[in-house]
Amino acid sequence: MNTKGDRKKVFSGIRATGRLHIGNYYGAIKGMIALQDEYDCTFGVMDLHTLTTPYDRGSLQGQIRDVVLDMMAAGLDPKKCRLIIQSHIPEVVELSYYFATVYQLARIEDLPTFKEKKAQYPEHITVALLYYPILMAADILLSKAELVPVGIDQEPHLEAAREIARKFNVTYGDMFPEPQRFATKGELVPSLTGEGKMSKTKEGSFITLADSLDVIRERLAKAPTDSGAKGGSVPKKGGVANLFVLLRLFSSAETVKSYTSVYEQGVIKYAELKHQLSHDIFKELEPLQKRRQYLMEHPHEVDEFLASSETSYREDGRATIAEVREKMGLSSHE
Ligand code: TYM
Repeated sequence: MNTKGDRKKVFSGIRATGRLHIGNYYGAIKGMIALQDEYDCTFGVMDLHTLTTPYDRGSLQGQIRDVVLDMMAAGLDPKKCRLIIQSHIPEVVELSYYFATVYQLARIEDLPTFKEKKAQYPEHITVALLYYPILMAADILLSKAELVPVGIDQEPHLEAAREIARKFNVTYGDMFPEPQRFATKGELVPSLTGEGKMSKTKEGSFITLADSLDVIRERLAKAPTDSGAKGGSVPKKGGVANLFVLLRLFSSAETVKSYTSVYEQGVIKYAELKHQLSHDIFKELEPLQKRRQYLMEHPHEVDEFLASSETSYREDGRATIAEVREKMGLSSHE
C-alpha cells in the first residue's frame, strides 16, 4: 500500500455498536470504497466514541470485530487503505486534548447531535459525550485529512472540526486543513418505519448487512404503505416515499421507472414492490456475506491488516503531534 507522497488524505470511522446496516453502507462505506483507489485513506472502528453512550462491556470486543469484518467484507482493501481501531491510537486522545483548549464549550452544547443524545440518554450526559466532537476532530486531523466520507447526519460534527482547525491555525499558525464531507447518493437512508433515518438504535428501522433474503422480506413486510389507489406523483415523505428511496438505491432505473408509473396510475401493488426490492437488496448483500465468511475463516488476514495499519498510522500521528506540541510551545524549536 502506498501511503507516501502528496495524495489527499481521507479519514472516516464507524462506532462499534453492532452489525452495520444499509444506511452505514450507503452513507459511509460506499464513499470509503470510492475514495480508496485514489487517495491516502484511513478508516476506523471508533470504540472510544462507543463509550459515550451506555454500552455492554462484555460485548464490546465482539462488536468491534463485527464492524471490522463488515467494513472489510464490504470492500475495504488492505492493499489500498488502512483500517485502525481508535483506542489503539493513543496519539488521537492526546491531540483531542490540545483541541479542547481552543474550542468553546458553548459551541458544543449548541450542536444538534449533542442535544439529540442528551434527550435520548438523560441519565448519561457525561463529559465524554460533550467531548465527542473534539475527539472526532482529532480523528480526522491527526492525519490532516481533507475529505471525510460520512452520511449527512455527521455534518454538524464536520462543521465543528472545521472550526477547530480554523481556530488552531489562527492561534498557533497554519497547519490543519478544513475537512469537507464526501457525499454519496445514499447520504441519508431513511427508516423502514416511515419516519426519520435508518438507525441502529431504532428497532424496526433497519436492514443489516447480515440479513438473509427471508429476514429482508420480513423487515420490508412491516414497512408502512398506503392503499395504493391514490395515484398522482410519488410522495416525498412517509413509508411509500422511503420505499422508493430504497428502490432508487438498490434497483435498476427500469424497475424504478415501472413502479413510479404504476404508482402514478393508482394501481401499484406494494407486495410486488417489496418482493422486488427484497431481491435487489439481497443481490447486493450476498457477495458481502460470502466475503465475510471467508474473512472469519482467515482471521490472520484481518489481524495483519489491522496491525500494519496501526503501525503506519501511529507514525503519521506522532509527526502531527510533534508539530502541534512545537507550535503550542510544549517543546522547544529545533
Ligand atoms: P455512526 O457510527 O453513527 O455511523 C457510521 C456512518 O454511517 C452513516 N450513517 C448513515 N448514512 C446514511 N443514512 C443513514 N440512515 C445513516 N446512518 C448512519 C453515518 O453518517 C456515518 O458516516 N461520529 C461518527 C463516528 C466517527 C467518525 C469519526 C466519522 C467518529 N470519529 C471521524 C468520521 C470521521 C458516528 O457516530 O458514526
